This record gives sequence, C-alpha cells and structure tokens, in this order.
Amino acid sequence: MKKFIVGNFKMNTTTHEFAKYLDKFLPLVKDSKNVVGLSIPYTHLMLASQKLVSTNVVYGSQNISTEEKGAFTGEISNLMVKDLGAYFTLVGHSEIRKKFRETNEQINQKIIRALSVNLKCILCVGETKTERNANKTKQVLKKQLEIALKGLYENELKNIIIAYEPIWAIGTGKMPTVKEIEKTVCDIRQIVLDMFSQKSAEKICVIYGGSVNQNNSANILKIKNLNGLLIGGACLDPVEFANITK
Ligand code: PGA
Repeated sequence: MKKFIVGNFKMNTTTHEFAKYLDKFLPLVKDSKNVVGLSIPYTHLMLASQKLVSTNVVYGSQNISTEEKGAFTGEISNLMVKDLGAYFTLVGHSEIRKKFRETNEQINQKIIRALSVNLKCILCVGETKTERNANKTKQVLKKQLEIALKGLYENELKNIIIAYEPIWAIGTGKMPTVKEIEKTVCDIRQIVLDMFSQKSAEKICVIYGGSVNQNNSANILKIKNLNGLLIGGACLDPVEFANITK
C-alpha cells in the first residue's frame, strides 16, 4: 500500500533556495513507491507548477482563505492555489489555529472552499500537552473533526487526509509512542465511523506529524492503520526527506 509522505516547509526558503532544493531532491525520489507531497509557501507555487510537472511529486499550499474573492487584503483563495496546479492545501495547522486564532468553524469553511475547486485537504488535528495530560485527546479530536467535517458528503472524504499532529510533538523532538499513535489513529477512525460509516472509517487517509525524522520514520510507518507522514523540520534537508520517503 502506498504511503503519503508530505513535507511541510512552513515559512522557510526563498524561491531560489527552493529551486536548488528541487534540483537535489527530485532525482533522489524519482523511483519512490510512495506518494510524495510538498506543502510550500504560496510564493513557490508557480515554480512548483513548472518544475514538478510530470514528476511523481505533488504539491500544495499551507492554507487558503475562507473567502472566495474580494476585499480580503493579504489572503489567497482556493482558486488562486488551484490555478497554480496545487493538488492539496493544508488546513487547520496548529500554528495557524494558535497564532491567528483560527476556529474549527473557519477550518470547515476552508475545507468546503477547497473541495469546491477539487483541491484535496490535509486537515490537521491534535491536542495540547495539557489536554493530553487530562486524558482529553479523543474528546478534543472529536470536536475538531466534527466541526471541520460538518456538512460534507461521504463521497467527499476521499479528498480529505487527516493529519494527527499532537501540538506538543511539533518541533519539540518529543512524540507519542508507536502504540499511542496507533490507538489515536483508531480513535480518529472511530469518530469518522460515528459521523459517516464503517467503510469511510476504514478508507479515510490518516497520517501522523510531529518530530518525524529519518531515524524514527520507518518505525512509525509500520503502524498498520496509518497511511503516511507529515514532516516539518526534517523535510528542509532534501537528503533526509528523500530518505524518509524511501
Ligand atoms: P515537525 O513539524 O516535523 O518539525 O515537528 C510538523 C508539522 O508542523 O507539520
């Protein structure tokens, strides 16, 4: 079964640096049996549309607006991203939830916008350390998923990838054990089952993110009910990221 391995660049690299990155990265992953994704700054989308055409690497944005068009200075719309050949957009990354106080309702609007132009969504969900210590992880994920996926038709779930990213594991070098990730992925599938159906719960793509690197990735990918990885810091080194995709 192919895994979906996505690198999230966050606010890193100029287009010039990104071009050099691709020159190094693409030959290393050209025979990858997995689906490789790059979640890149908006400014890189045009370059990606030129350099990644007819490669096995897909790309997408890290966010989109809740709005379609108009007087929204500083925002980027679903169509602008789609127009540059993006395959997906990230939505609900914890850094955006926190810094811009993004709500689950706004995330729901973004998902609906993305799906309306055939952009897949990588929906990030995850608990804080405090929520985890209070044994509230499942409850938090349930709320995030129920609101974010509200109003979706079941057949739209094929365009949703759920990224389980415990907030305390992002960029910290800490992460849950393999068993804990497996259990949480199970919980996520149970929530999808309750909202939709057994079939959707089994089929939906669920990936893990948070302090993944080339030393721990193989172990995490052994988790049976997990379909891939979302990688931040470690994807900035093209050799390390290529190793992970292998
Ligand atoms: P990290 O980030 O791999 O640097 O922990 C993951 C993410 O934020 O998507």
